[in-house]
Amino acid sequence: MARTPKPRTLVGCVGLVLLLTTVAATLSAQDSDRRPGLNSNLLMRLLLPESAFDRLARENASRMVEEGRETFRFDTFGSEAFWGDQLKLHRAIAGANLGGVGPGLSPKAALALGLKVDEEALPVAVATAIQRGQVNLDDPATTLSLLKLDAVVGVKGHFDSAGRLASVGIQCALCHSTVDNAMTAGIGRRQDGWANRDLNVGAIIALAPDLSPLATLLGVSEATVRTVLNSWGPGKFDAELILDGKAMRPDGKPAATVLPPAFGLAGVNNHTWTGAWGNVTYWNAFVANLDMQGKGTFFDPRLNDAAKYPIAAKAGFGNKRDSPDLITPKLAALHFYQLAIPAPTPPAGSFNAAAAARGQTLFSGKAGCATCHVPPLFTEPGWNLHTAQEIGIDDFQSSRSPDNRYRTAPLKGLWTHQKGGFYHDGRFATLLDVVNHYNSFRSLGLSEAEKSDVVEYLKSL
Ligand code: HEC
Ligand code: HEC
Repeated sequence: MARTPKPRTLVGCVGLVLLLTTVAATLSAQDSDRRPGLNSNLLMRLLLPESAFDRLARENASRMVEEGRETFRFDTFGSEAFWGDQLKLHRAIAGANLGGVGPGLSPKAALALGLKVDEEALPVAVATAIQRGQVNLDDPATTLSLLKLDAVVGVKGHFDSAGRLASVGIQCALCHSTVDNAMTAGIGRRQDGWANRDLNVGAIIALAPDLSPLATLLGVSEATVRTVLNSWGPGKFDAELILDGKAMRPDGKPAATVLPPAFGLAGVNNHTWTGAWGNVTYWNAFVANLDMQGKGTFFDPRLNDAAKYPIAAKAGFGNKRDSPDLITPKLAALHFYQLAIPAPTPPAGSFNAAAAARGQTLFSGKAGCATCHVPPLFTEPGWNLHTAQEIGIDDFQSSRSPDNRYRTAPLKGLWTHQKGGFYHDGRFATLLDVVNHYNSFRSLGLSEAEKSDVVEYLKSL
């Protein structure tokens, strides 16, 4: 006999559905400003049971994102052995009054070097005191307090039992995160993946009292190392110096490149400005082992080429095996997290929408940009590399990479890194300079109005 539901049960069912709908709507509303779309399917999930297989993948994805975020923000990979034990950078940060050397690094000086403070790591009382101007930002002791709170983005301080700064290590977030300046310039909420174009990496390393480990590696004097580091300027780093020892370009300018963003990289094949090193996870292993000097395993026989990479070949960077390995177990989630960070959308009103629409037509048509910057990835699906001649520039930086090519830069989120210029070394100060370059080099015949439309389009990406 077919059972007809009792009215009370029916009311109960309708009530439950309504309740679930409300919960789902509330959750997605709460989440929409932070993680758009994450919960939009929640109601469906609640009503239709998910298969065990689907659940496994979804739970794995969210676990990987969380683990990778922790690694990106907080892991030093054991790099304290280099930045602390060897270079003694912590002693310069603390200053002579607090057990180190020299004047120490005040928060004001740290902010001037482009270091950022994570507002969310500050207890309310400290945040309020900073806002009221009651915190002494000229005192290195305040910097040490911020380090104790894990509030200095990208730098981890270790303290001994007497409360003295005993060592420091560095994190990926140092160069590839900024803050939104919500509290004041340099203090705010983290923005992972954004290139920190304020950060003077060279000047920070040059503070270290002992540069002899770098001098020995590079086979030059400590004074030379310091000069090179101080030549880079804000927003730049030279990731290949420790391979080939090339500090200067032929024109005498520093060989450093601008810090690239580390967002919007899903779907992009080759990474870094010169690409042929490998994909995101290759480069993560490279940078954590070689540039950050973490403890791990790294294998790339291309670095044994003593003619191209004399420093790396001599140091054995092509086959590095540390024990314990603090890097390899973290690579999978770190990779996943970076691919999960979307390129941020430009703020409303930051570009002219009508001009950008005309610019889009030019980008894919007359200006010929889309043949290389293929939308919506804005790099080529496949092998996205070009010779220097193809883009009308010199081959100094490309010839430092295994394939002697430049990688077609993915263009999403360009608006976040206008400071410091465009192309690998920031040679074009503005987007109009970039468009002018293509216009003359590729004889595009763009009018001034068309150039400005293309620029508005670039600002809209
Ligand atoms: C000292 C600054 C610095 C630190 C620390 C650093 N990077 Fe980078 N990163 C750079 C620079 C500079 C480049 C460009 C290198 C080049 O093209 O030669 C780069 C390139 C990249 C790229 C390629 C981006 C693209 O557009 O293809 C990724 C991904 C990346 N870094 C991730 C990381 C991760 C993950 C870590 C931590 C393990 C890290 N970086 C640590 C400076 C840094
Ligand atoms: C032949 C392929 C090719 C074409 C065509 C091309 N680009 Fe590029 N583009 C590249 C490469 C390669 C780079 C990276 C240059 C470097 O690393 O110095 C680049 C870099 C850029 C950058 C700098 C990105 C950054 O992060 O600094 C912008 C902006 C840009 N291109 C816009 C355009 C526009 C606009 C057009 C059309 C007028 C265009 N490109 C046409 C290959 C191309």
